[in-house]
Amino acid sequence: MARKKIALIGAGMIGGTLAHLAAKKEMGDIVLFDIAEGMPQGKALDLSQCGPIEGFDAKITGSNDYADIAGADVVIVTAGVPRKPGMSRDDLLGINLKVMKSVGEGIKNNCPDAFVICITNPLDAMVWALREFSGLPHNKVVGMAGVLDSARFATFLAWEFGCSVKDVNAFVLGGHGDTMVPVTSYTTINGIPVNDYAKIKGVSESRIDEIVDRTRKGGGEIVGLLGNGSAYYAPATSAIAMAEAYLGDQKRILPCASYVEGKYGLDGLYVGVPTVIGAGGTEEVIEIELSDEEKNNLKVSTDAVEELLEACKSLDGSLA
Ligand code: APR
Repeated sequence: MARKKIALIGAGMIGGTLAHLAAKKEMGDIVLFDIAEGMPQGKALDLSQCGPIEGFDAKITGSNDYADIAGADVVIVTAGVPRKPGMSRDDLLGINLKVMKSVGEGIKNNCPDAFVICITNPLDAMVWALREFSGLPHNKVVGMAGVLDSARFATFLAWEFGCSVKDVNAFVLGGHGDTMVPVTSYTTINGIPVNDYAKIKGVSESRIDEIVDRTRKGGGEIVGLLGNGSAYYAPATSAIAMAEAYLGDQKRILPCASYVEGKYGLDGLYVGVPTVIGAGGTEEVIEIELSDEEKNNLKVSTDAVEELLEACKSLDGSLA
């Protein structure tokens, strides 16, 4: 069987980390694409030289030509600009929308059968725009946010409880912004509802609220510390888990920015929801029961996403 082909559009901090992870896991051959000349070729060469040490045979090439992503099975998109301290993800909209247009066309013309994972921010709007520009079916275009946001929530909870992160099953819904909705009612410590476990461990409700708040602002905390750029290790690791679910037909239930039509009272919007990922792409959106407060929080989050879509439509008439 031919090896799988993974195309990474954007060879910056996340793109390079994605290439390293995909190669180590032998997920397939990798093409690092970027508009910057020389940089993807240089990173590809550097990463290829990890092969003899780490023992992988994955072929890694760098390119500035969309023809080189032809026939890719999976495309992961990080092209665009990241945040600087003081910026919100939404401040990136104008620049990254134009980038999504060229990337969408590159995908449409070269690998229309690929499963496409978008990471570029502001995520929920960019994945929607990328789907529109590429014309791919909705089940083949998805955004990476919930796996990362849930991982951030799980990390902070594990630290608070002094337990293994492996036992924390954290749940985050909604847009990938400060209005995201960490859902404590579906968050468990090896099956024990988090609020029950908090009582057992003497952790107050207000402390859990602080952890929820830190999760919401988790990306900004890292932007502030790095000083130049945004998080890349955990975002790349999250997208790799989604790509593996697709390539391995794993039917994993992962929180992703998926296209939601009809469920959660939504009508054609990309937003973070539990999603089954398998060989069919995003095979099913799972609708869970929410409390009134959670429903309200989700509404605030989806309203914020809708506002961004309106902004996209006014910036690019072809999206209206
Ligand atoms: N086509 C292809 N690549 C592009 C384009 C384009 N039109 N425009 C910019 N790029 C490339 C840049 O040259 C750069 O190498 O995208 C890359 C982005 O890399 P970084 O600046 O290192 O950003 P990174 O940290 O990888 O984040 C990328 O993901 O999480 C989001 O908010 C983040 O939107 C940002 C994206």
